[in-house]
Amino acid sequence: MAWYYAVAERDHEIQNPTSPEKIRLLGERLRLEPESHVLDIACGKGGPAVILAREFGCTITGVERAPEFAADARERVAAAGLADRIEILERDAAELDLEPGRYDVALCLGASFVWGGLAGTLAALTPAARAGGHVVVGEPYWRRWPVPDGIADDGFVTLAATIDRFRAAGLTLDTLIASSEDDWDRYESLHWRALEDWLTANPGDPDAPEIRQRHETNRDDYLRWGRELLGWAIFAARKA
Ligand SMILES: C[S@@+](CC[C@H](N)C(=O)[O-])C[C@H]1O[C@@H](n2cnc3c(N)ncnc32)[C@H](O)[C@@H]1O
Repeated sequence: MAWYYAVAERDHEIQNPTSPEKIRLLGERLRLEPESHVLDIACGKGGPAVILAREFGCTITGVERAPEFAADARERVAAAGLADRIEILERDAAELDLEPGRYDVALCLGASFVWGGLAGTLAALTPAARAGGHVVVGEPYWRRWPVPDGIADDGFVTLAATIDRFRAAGLTLDTLIASSEDDWDRYESLHWRALEDWLTANPGDPDAPEIRQRHETNRDDYLRWGRELLGWAIFAARKA
């Protein structure tokens, strides 16, 4: 069976509504340097990890559960000549035993669902960061509240309430890098192109009807309300 995300994210280097420039900006704000060690939870195809290691020379431990994406990440790392800097572990992050204080940065872009949401993610990642280090999460937030009837909030809250969740975890936010409409359109429409290509190339595939339905529902939800209502940002917070 074709895995929806492997089809939909064929052309994504970064599997979130952000950009290589914003990932570089994150590295600058975190003051990454060759001595820094970053834990990158749910690293996907390794797009952010390759940018950070290439630009700042840091060491990265990436954790990715999907075998397709972990393999893709290893290929990208090797092609970038960064195998000595980036290690990709194919694991379920929820089952990791994270060593306390081991990392300068504990990062999770777009996968707080691994720990049931932002609060659980902060609780899981904060112990892994050293004192004075950072916990960084890429997370959606609602631009309007309450969310209109008929739309599930999915556990996300407003920007201010998202920042309160960092505060409640004992962390001090020092960097916010929000996604633009262009970032969102690029991220969403790369899905559409890859899915339309796949559906054209595989018209008789038994998964085609389900993939088409999911694709069109996601696209239409984005166009009808997601583009206006949902924000996404990288939140970087300091551990005391
Ligand atoms: C939205 S993508 C983000 C990928 C990457 N952080 C990026 O920004 O390009 C979410 C990733 O989480 C991975 N994932 C989902 N559940 C996971 C888990 N329990 N452990 C590790 N990775 C997981 C998915 O396979 C996917 O690659």
